Amino acid sequence: MVSKAFFVAFSLWLLVLLLFNPSQAHVLFGFYNVTCPNAETMVRDEVGKVLAKQPDLAGALIRLHFVDCFVGGCEASILLNSTANGPAEKDAPLNKGIRGFDVIDGIKAKMEQACPGIVSCADIITMAARDSVYLSHGPFYTIPTGRRDGNGSVASDVAKYVPSPAATIDDIKAFFAKKNLTVKDLVVLSGAHTLGKAHCYSFSDRLYNFKGNGSSDPSLDANYTMALQNQCKPNDMTTLVDLDPDNATMFDLDYYKLVSNMKGLFASDVALLSDVDAKAYVTRQANATKTDEFFNDFATSMVAMGRLSVLTHQNGEIRKICSKLPTKFF
Ligand code: HEM
Repeated sequence: MVSKAFFVAFSLWLLVLLLFNPSQAHVLFGFYNVTCPNAETMVRDEVGKVLAKQPDLAGALIRLHFVDCFVGGCEASILLNSTANGPAEKDAPLNKGIRGFDVIDGIKAKMEQACPGIVSCADIITMAARDSVYLSHGPFYTIPTGRRDGNGSVASDVAKYVPSPAATIDDIKAFFAKKNLTVKDLVVLSGAHTLGKAHCYSFSDRLYNFKGNGSSDPSLDANYTMALQNQCKPNDMTTLVDLDPDNATMFDLDYYKLVSNMKGLFASDVALLSDVDAKAYVTRQANATKTDEFFNDFATSMVAMGRLSVLTHQNGEIRKICSKLPTKFF
């Protein structure tokens, strides 16, 4: 019979293999339990304080996580400032409206006081996105941590990995497939568009010059088009509009109702209706009386997205300031 001592030794050996094998880029549940036990609570408290003052930043923090993970991987490249070597991801044209950097910087500063050099910027973004969902009345889900921060950020990579709001369904599916994410992940994660804000320039072609024809997009509800035209004049580069005009700070099924009712803000939202499976999901959630299926699916897809090309173990590093690389990289 296998002795208890042998079983314990074997389990420890497996754990050591898992923790120290550089070929296994694994994040782990409870990674900071010993090294910084309050890390997750601290992030939640800080996000809570920010959202109490400015609830629409929940959307911004979730989007930061999405664009971080899609370009390179979840390694906080989105937070790095441009340098003399060239523009960084945050200054790419597709990212010009991106918000929430100050929130992550503020959390990181507090984290460095409590647990210096321990908690990565990549994990802080991931936790802040999770907490933004939860604090906006969405699902709570546990996330594996232990991501480390990358040492590069190149603006021209963004268009290769982040779909534009004018993307067709084939384009968007291809972008998700590149990341081994499914059409289900696509339609589920798009549900995040129930929160937050968009700049007029992200969709104004649909209001004024759809496909260069000088008129509005016929697939956008006519009354909604007029309401949006009132908020967004042509060439408006600054105004922010709610993605969900009914309640942009509540994580709910509204996105699917809007898309079903020709009120999806971006052409890429409407595009979901051109895929049979995505359309079936949109229609089911638009008519659902309970949020359970969407909430479970959203949690699953966010955890999958949060695992994209993570750096762990001796790869990557823990930045002290999320927007800057240590001088050794210059
Ligand atoms: C499927 C392809 C996607 C496209 C084409 C897309 C496009 C966009 C665009 C253009 C904006 C507005 C940017 C601005 O005007 O400032 C936006 C906002 C947003 N996106 Fe997406 N997105 C996509 C997928 C996702 C995913 C997967 C998530 C999260 C899981 C997400 C979460 C958000 C959120 C929460 C906002 C609001 C941001 C804010 O309040 O600042 N999006 N998206």
